[in-house]
Amino acid sequence: MTSTTPSMAPAAAATAPASQPARLMIDAPARAFHWLFALSFAGAWITAESERWRGLHVTLGYAFGGLLLFRLVYGLVGPRQARLASLWHRVSGFGDWLRNARAGRIDPPRAVTLGMGAAMLLLISVAAPLVLSGYVGYVDWLGMEDAMEEVHEFFANSAMALVAAHLALIALLSMLRRRNLATPMWTGRAPGAGPDLVKANRAWLAVLMLAAYAGFVGWQTVQSDPGVTPATQGERRGGHHADD
Ligand code: HEM
Ligand code: HEM
Repeated sequence: MTSTTPSMAPAAAATAPASQPARLMIDAPARAFHWLFALSFAGAWITAESERWRGLHVTLGYAFGGLLLFRLVYGLVGPRQARLASLWHRVSGFGDWLRNARAGRIDPPRAVTLGMGAAMLLLISVAAPLVLSGYVGYVDWLGMEDAMEEVHEFFANSAMALVAAHLALIALLSMLRRRNLATPMWTGRAPGAGPDLVKANRAWLAVLMLAAYAGFVGWQTVQSDPGVTPATQGERRGGHHADD
């Protein structure tokens, strides 16, 4: 346990030809979280307007909430890279940036980096009230259905604005740094020599997450009325459908 892996000698990495060295930066569960979170959000957004798709909307909303819980737990017990403290650390330079800006030393690329951290942090923060307001309205807790409608929509729109900012800032920073910053969220790796920043990929946990997600959404869909199945003829299905 005490010995380090001899195969990762730094000298080897330093002398290796510059043929695309890449370091593991984001482990599989963090990536699975991201894409399932994004997928749930997009799905919930698309199905939000229609009564017919309400079942699927709520299912994806719960999945979104479940993923948020996972992220919070993983942010406390997961690897350093996934720690919530690391995410917080990314916006902690804001005070310095502001002080420099006041002194006339404006650093636009740093502002983009800080904005990106802020958008991600705010997205995670807005997700909880978004899910809670949806739930409270849905079960009509304390007769708050009508009040929650407005609140829920407000948080959904705020989250959408943050997603737009998230994507715009990634595109902008990719242009400034002349490399595609979205790729590491897919492959887990970013160009650069040296040891991996995340020690273990934990693919098994990502597989577990995917299975749980597919199981939950599939099970909920089967339980719901036919109108919420992904069948495109939903609108045309004559049979009963429970909610108006
Ligand atoms: C447990 C989670 C969720 C539940 C139970 C839920 C439930 C509901 C319900 C019952 C409505 C219709 C009444 C209303 O407008 O408040 C609704 C609308 C809406 N939901 Fe959700 N939701 C959830 C999560 C989400 C998420 C994650 C999003 C993010 C995209 C979202 C976006 C919306 C939007 C934009 C509307 C307004 C649609 C309109 O204009 O009528 N919801 N939701
Ligand atoms: C095609 C669409 C998207 C792309 C290419 C993308 C890409 C990325 C990338 C590259 C990062 C890491 C940025 C960094 O660490 O500097 C990231 C983080 C993040 N993204 Fe996205 N994203 C997309 C859509 C979304 C959507 C729709 C949501 C939420 C509804 C979302 C929520 C987040 C969150 C919460 C983080 C922080 C991740 C964490 O710390 O676990 N993303 N995204």
